[in-house]
Amino acid sequence: MTYTSGWAVVTGASSGLGRGFATKLAADGMSVVLVARSAGPLHDLADELRETYGTEVEVIVADLADADARSTVIADLETRDVEVLINNAGFATSGDFADENPARIAEMISLNCLTLTLLSRAAVPGMIARGRGAIVNVASTAAFQPIPTMGTYAATKAFVLRLSLAMWHELRPSGVTVMALCPGATETDFWRIAGNPDGFRRRRTVAQVVATCFDSLAKGSPVAIDGALNTVLARTAPFVPDRLTMAIARFIARRP
Ligand SMILES: NC(=O)c1ccc[n+]([C@@H]2O[C@H](COP(=O)([O-])OP(=O)(O)OC[C@H]3O[C@@H](n4cnc5c(N)ncnc54)[C@H](OP(=O)(O)O)[C@@H]3O)[C@@H](O)[C@H]2O)c1
Repeated sequence: MTYTSGWAVVTGASSGLGRGFATKLAADGMSVVLVARSAGPLHDLADELRETYGTEVEVIVADLADADARSTVIADLETRDVEVLINNAGFATSGDFADENPARIAEMISLNCLTLTLLSRAAVPGMIARGRGAIVNVASTAAFQPIPTMGTYAATKAFVLRLSLAMWHELRPSGVTVMALCPGATETDFWRIAGNPDGFRRRRTVAQVVATCFDSLAKGSPVAIDGALNTVLARTAPFVPDRLTMAIARFIARRP
């Protein structure tokens, strides 16, 4: 199924992958709601999309790790006929678990897991009633194995992958599709914000991940892993002993 009209909601639309998803949806003819904390970049993107594609664009400035702000976005989702929801907002921490900032961990779990779950829950009843709709939950190749020094982040993405698969199975008969998008390292601000700006230097581009996302969504795939090498590594990880995958993952995730 392809999505070329109606409302699409993209969280984390102010930069990186979210900006790419929003631009593709607008180019395909959808009206778009852009959500993130950074008002300036969101309004700049909204202006650009309106001018370039003549599409309707709304901006919601919200800290999605904050319960009250999240509630305003949920209220919006419950009243709008959402065709496509892209739960993309997220971030990682890196470093030894014993040194992690507890408040930052709580913010990450809240954003990466709780917000994604509650926004999906808000959008699904309307999609079922209309017999169509798509939810893309941005997971990661980090979902496929534990990653020492990025352990909490990898666990949040394993949560996203498992939840998305169960949702895909439950919702398929209703005409609603759910997909876990699993990018590997991609060239965005993600690595700088994670405190490891030079980590994982073999990075894919936003354009490549966006193309993987929409090609797989059109096929109704429950999981989309971006890139051939990422696909091989992610799909073989479950067959390798945990101690070995963790040693390899820790080596790859090291700070140069
Ligand atoms: N880049 C990679 O290598 C990679 C690999 C696998 C998966 N991913 C996943 O891809 C998704 C997008 O990341 P990205 O690579 O595009 O990184 P990015 O450029 O840092 O984008 C993250 C987006 O999330 C938003 N965000 C962060 N905290 C937020 C909050 N509390 N409330 C609302 N919005 C918030 C940011 O906007 P504001 O700062 O304006 O709020 C920004 O728009 C994330 O879920 C990430 O885990 C990335």
